[in-house]
Amino acid sequence: CHDRYFMIAVDLAATGEVPRFEAVGTGTYAITEYYAAKCGYTISILSLLGLVELRASYFSCHTEKSPREVTCEVNYMEVSVRSELPCQSGLSDGWSTLGPLYSPSTENWQVTFQNPDERLPPMNLSQARQQGYIFDLVHDRIVFRTPYGQPDSYRTEVTGVPVEVVHATVFSRKSWVFVMVDLIAACSKEGSYDSGYMIWGTPEALYPSLGKTQISFGLNGNLMEQAAAVQKGFIMKRYNSTVQIGIPYNAEGGYRKSFVNDGLFEFYIFNLYLKQTSVDERHEETVLWFHRNLVTPLLSSPLVTEDTDVEDGTFSINLGKVPRDVELTSVQLNGQEFAVPFSDSIAYTLTEVRHSNQSHSYTLKVPLHDPIVIQEFSKENTAMLHKLDINYTLIVTPGDKPYYHTISVTALMAVPPSFDVVCTESGIDFKLAYRSFDFLWDFTIGSDRLTPALAANRGYTMSNDSQSLLLSVPLFTHGYKYTDIGLKGFLGTFTILVRDRETADILTSTIKTCLFNTTEFICSTNGWMTVVVDLSAVPSDERPAHFHLVNSLCVPKEVDGARVLFSFPLHSCGST
Ligand SMILES: *[C@@H]1O[C@H](CO)[C@@H](O)[C@H](O)[C@H]1NC(C)=O
Ligand SMILES: *[C@@H]1O[C@H](CO)[C@@H](O)[C@H](O)[C@H]1NC(C)=O
Ligand SMILES: *[C@@H]1O[C@H](CO)[C@@H](O)[C@H](O)[C@H]1NC(C)=O
Ligand SMILES: *[C@@H]1O[C@H](CO)[C@@H](O)[C@H](O)[C@H]1NC(C)=O
Ligand SMILES: *[C@@H]1O[C@H](CO)[C@@H](O)[C@H](O)[C@H]1NC(C)=O
Ligand SMILES: *[C@@H]1O[C@H](CO)[C@@H](O)[C@H](O)[C@H]1NC(C)=O
Repeated sequence: CHDRYFMIAVDLAATGEVPRFEAVGTGTYAITEYYAAKCGYTISILSLLGLVELRASYFSCHTEKSPREVTCEVNYMEVSVRSELPCQSGLSDGWSTLGPLYSPSTENWQVTFQNPDERLPPMNLSQARQQGYIFDLVHDRIVFRTPYGQPDSYRTEVTGVPVEVVHATVFSRKSWVFVMVDLIAACSKEGSYDSGYMIWGTPEALYPSLGKTQISFGLNGNLMEQAAAVQKGFIMKRYNSTVQIGIPYNAEGGYRKSFVNDGLFEFYIFNLYLKQTSVDERHEETVLWFHRNLVTPLLSSPLVTEDTDVEDGTFSINLGKVPRDVELTSVQLNGQEFAVPFSDSIAYTLTEVRHSNQSHSYTLKVPLHDPIVIQEFSKENTAMLHKLDINYTLIVTPGDKPYYHTISVTALMAVPPSFDVVCTESGIDFKLAYRSFDFLWDFTIGSDRLTPALAANRGYTMSNDSQSLLLSVPLFTHGYKYTDIGLKGFLGTFTILVRDRETADILTSTIKTCLFNTTEFICSTNGWMTVVVDLSAVPSDERPAHFHLVNSLCVPKEVDGARVLFSFPLHSCGST
């Protein structure tokens, strides 16, 4: 065994002719000139020395690698070494091989365990088996297997990473052959959780290594390309002679579970699979296979009530981020319980939306004016307060431990305003002292929206500032209705409607009727014309005894001392 190659030299004189070489692995391969160059073999004839020499690179095609494999399984450690090595290993005690090797029988074998402080007395393999250790010869390999936490293993730290180590030496002496094999397994076990990542580390230096170890890893037994790992958010860092792997808590391939414990929690489980290869100065590989179950601590998994809204007179409450293994089983509305799914006979609806990220959400709708909603008048806001306490019962499946999520929703529904009104001699005055939300409304006269332009056009007097709206409506302007018209006076009625600005629905109205007493007027209503004539300026002895309009059949409806009232259809009595 040379620095970078194996070498075999054959005495030319012994063979008589130049020998042919074959590499023997899974088959037999003739080392031709072409094959030699392709596969890392060199044949040199050293005529002067009478030798022919075959050199095989350590990386040549049929060199068997991995003399040592260590598996850090979830429940045991296993080391296997090839029982026949071309060269001595670089281990401390290493292989000491003399002559032809092992017989399949292990009867003569003894084992001793050692820890940093002592080497324990040897025992035979049956005794070792009774203590839970397995030594076996499988094909050309010696296999040693042990559960974790055996009395002969020990815990230590390698470059700051806690590891469990077991160091067994098996040996056999048979006649003049003495064989000793060192079997060391060292496994890093615990993971930790930090800021959204499950962290697990392994020392670079568990086994003798020239420079850095080669790492590849994945979940559930699949090794990933490094680029794929990075793309999926995995992290691999090397520092202080350790390799650290960071698995994003929600990495694909992990398992997630919800948990109720005085709150809603979740945890994640990962089956980390990692291959760490070290090559020592003799180009011998140690391959470490890790299978680690890593479990995050309980992480809080709050549900969120979002987009709570009042639309079309209905509470709409969205309970979101409900994990896939959590189901809503019932809802209490102001203390009254309703099983999920809701029966069709109730006025509330519950719809479930399943999201592609495996969470789901529930939208609950309850009409504001439903009797289950508590309504109370809020003086402070001069509005109706609508209140709904919701208590959701959720269950983690499978399981039956309930988790209650409660929220309280309220909506202030403004009460539409009404005006203060006074009758004046010549009209009606409306006044509205604005409240904070009175700009939500439209005021209309009939179907016409009250605006400064409308007011000007119709002869109303309007003033509007941040404090109040004043509207004076003089008698006989557009919008009045007249009734009970007689010489003693008449009633004039004026109405302001309050409408919803969006739907134009009439919410309320202010209607004012005043008694007016004017001496002389003309007005028309319902197709009738009413005229009052005041004759008080005419001396009483000159006043006629009888009155009529142009058409003599049209006589007054009422006459008192000085005034005459005619009332007649618009298009009659000679009106033009
Ligand atoms: C192993 O050792 C025990 C105790 O010394 C002994 O009783 C037993 O016979 C031994 N077994 C073999 C296979 O040598
Ligand atoms: C590396 O080790 C040094 C010395 O022990 C220590 O000060 C440093 O914090 C370590 N680095 C990290 C990233 O842990
Ligand atoms: C899942 O997707 C929905 C809809 O895109 C989103 O509202 C919710 O926050 C997501 N849930 C999580 C846990 O990321
Ligand atoms: C929610 O309902 C459960 C079951 O009736 C009850 O034990 C719990 O106290 C309720 N939570 C609230 C805040 O009312
Ligand atoms: C009064 O003024 C407010 C604020 O400028 C405006 O929103 C509202 O429409 C006005 N009202 C009327 C009847 O013009
Ligand atoms: C109407 O006016 C007359 C004369 O001006 C007066 O005598 C009468 O009391 C008034 N009636 C009302 C209801 O104001």
